[in-house]
Formats: sequence, structure tokens, C-alpha cells
Amino acid sequence: MKNKEIFKLYEKFVAHNYGRYPITIVEGKGCKAVDAQGKAYLDLLAGLAVNILGHSPAVVAKAISAQATKLIHTSNLFYTIPQGELAKELVKLSFPSQALFVNSGAEAVESALKLSRKYQSDLKNGRTEIIAMENSFHGRTYGALSATGQAKYHKGFAPLLPAFKHVPFGNLTALKKAVTKKTAAIIVEPVQGEGGINIASRNYLKGLRKLCDKERVLLIFDEVQCGMGRTGRWFACQHAGVTPDIMTLAKGLGGGFPIGAMLAKPEVISAFGPGTHASTFGGGPLACAAALAVIKTVKDKKLLKHANFVSREVKRELESLKKEFDDIKEIRVSGLMIGIELKKAGGNIVAECLKEGLIINCVQDTVLRFLPPLNVKLQEMKRGINILKKVLCREIS
Ligand SMILES: Cc1ncc(COP(=O)(O)O)c(C=O)c1O
Repeated sequence: MKNKEIFKLYEKFVAHNYGRYPITIVEGKGCKAVDAQGKAYLDLLAGLAVNILGHSPAVVAKAISAQATKLIHTSNLFYTIPQGELAKELVKLSFPSQALFVNSGAEAVESALKLSRKYQSDLKNGRTEIIAMENSFHGRTYGALSATGQAKYHKGFAPLLPAFKHVPFGNLTALKKAVTKKTAAIIVEPVQGEGGINIASRNYLKGLRKLCDKERVLLIFDEVQCGMGRTGRWFACQHAGVTPDIMTLAKGLGGGFPIGAMLAKPEVISAFGPGTHASTFGGGPLACAAALAVIKTVKDKKLLKHANFVSREVKRELESLKKEFDDIKEIRVSGLMIGIELKKAGGNIVAECLKEGLIINCVQDTVLRFLPPLNVKLQEMKRGINILKKVLCREIS
């Protein structure tokens, strides 16, 4: 099928809720994506942080197909082996907790918000309020959207859920003032992704934990984007040695296969008794088999170590790029979550990079974002930076 025919299908039969580039991706391997014309792209965005092992990793494909020949779906009326094994792996990697599986980031966040209110409601303490951060992004369902601290995503969807408030990210003083006897939970991304790669300091995360303990407020870390090794640790909060009460995961967890998870301390998740919360597809055998393959591969191939090595080199390269271009305001790097903040809009830079065969994106109008797979080669990152440099020379000078 030719590009033109595909665009026609979309024009007529697909909702127009996405701004898409006029490119049809038909296949991919590692950091290489290929379009319907046969043009190859260097993909350093990894399907928005989802393809944590690159495109179509053989280990994930194998795990899915092996599982598919045994059992594709059964429902949560029964036990399955992959779900139990995946929960054990995630708990071992994170903190003493239990897992609840869903299908996306928004659903994981939704579960965390509902769990917070249910937990506090069981304690009959009147705590229902959720405090979230300005500039945050938690997803598009109503609870997750109400937590999201960006007006542009709220426009046209009022009324949102009641009892949500927002405070500036990284500001403990503002947070302390906002907490009251009605506060049920605080939700924070340890690294804001969609908000522009804003990295919480260790002291901020430690301060959050202390505050939540003192005020008996639940601490939720939304690691949907920054979790699963993306920042060079399994979970971004581990850089600060801080453990949340509830953590949300999705994106990289399934290596491209849709799966989300919420982990919560046993004494908290026990508020979700039978029948309180559910998801038909949550923790299905295929999704869990894919996630188990991802975790095994990250461990076996020592990809956290590799990601940290690539991250250090890339940071150095980008800092020297900044010296060359006045229009680069700041470089922000946490593992393989990489942001280049420009002094001006970056949309056209992304479009020009795409013409040159490089896939990245731009958030908050001015922040160029790279989210490469954990197994990206340093050479691939260097090639991407060279393409960016060429485009910056052309577009900025
Ligand atoms: C931190 C964070 N939370 C939640 C979400 C929502 O995830 P999903 O699009 O899978 O619903 C995202 C998506 O970008 C995210 O970055």
C-alpha cells in the first residue's frame, strides 16, 4: 500500500486527534525504522519511550509467540503463571510491594489515585485531596487528566475531578503550605518527561518522603516514563534512595507490548479488596510474558550499565554543542531521558531532523527530547547528534 492510500484511509476512517507526520512506518529493528517508501530513519525516540529494547526485539517477539501458542487470555477470574512471575520480578527490583496490572500509563495512574482515596477512606479520616505538580503529565483519562498540571490538556474537558491542586515542581516550601488535613496523596514524576525533562533533585525527593511520613500522606511516584531503566537505574526514585507508597509504570515495561502496572506497599494495596478495582485485560499472559522478557534482557545484557555509559558520553557531546549554539539554553540528562532546551520554538527543528532521517520530538514548544532505547549504540547517538547539529546550523544561523 502506498503512502497516499494510507493517508486517505486515515482521513476518512481514523479519528483526527493526533497531529501526525506524513510518514507511514512499516517496520523497524533496533533504532532503525523504515517507512512505506523504504526510507530508513534513526529512531531516537523509541515510540515515546516504549521501545526500551528498540524496535521489534527478538526476545520480546519470541516470548509473545511462545506464550500465544499456550494461552493468550483467560481473565482475572483465574491465576496465570506470567502474571505471578512478573509481579515477583517487579517487587524484587523496586520496593516491598504488591502489583496490580493494567494496560497503559493513564490506567496505572488512575489506579494509584483510586487506591489513595480508598486507603484514606477506609481510615475514615476525611482525606480526599490529591496534590500534583505544575507542568506534570499523567495521562488522558479523567483522574489522570485532573492530576496533570497543564491547562492546555484541560481545555474543553471541564469539569475535571474535584479535590486536585497543583504546586510548582521542585518546591518543597510550596508543597508544605499546600498539605492540609484533607490531603490524601501527593503525585510526582521524579523526572517530568512531557513537561520538558525536568529532573527532581535528590533532596526534593527525600524531602517529599519526609513530608508525607510526617503528614500521613501517601506518596505516589509516576514512573510511567522515567521507570524501567530509562534514567540508568531501574526506577528514577532509586537515584535518591527514596521509596514511594505507590508507583506507576507502563511505557518501557512491555518493550512495545501494552502493559501498565501499579506497585504499592502491601498495607496500602490491601485497601483494594476483591471487587474494588479491576481491568479485563490487566496482566494478561502475553503482556506479562513480554515484560518478563524485557526485564531478563535488561539484566542479562547489563543494559543499565550501558545506558549510563552512553548517557555520560552524550551529555558531554551535548554540552559542547551548547557552547557552539547560543540558542541552546540548557541540556538536561538523566540516563537516556535527554532534553535540549532551546531559546526558541523547536517544532521546525524536529521536522527538519525528520527530513534528514532522525526521529526525535519537541515538548513544551522549546525542549527537544531524545528517548532512545537502553541498548542504543553510542555510534547511533553520535550520528543523531550530528544530524541535529547540521539542522541547527541551517535553521539557527
Ligand atoms: C509520566 C506519565 N504518566 C502517565 C502517562 C500516560 O501514559 P499512557 O499514554 O500510556 O496512558 C504518560 C504518557 O506520556 C507519562 O509520561
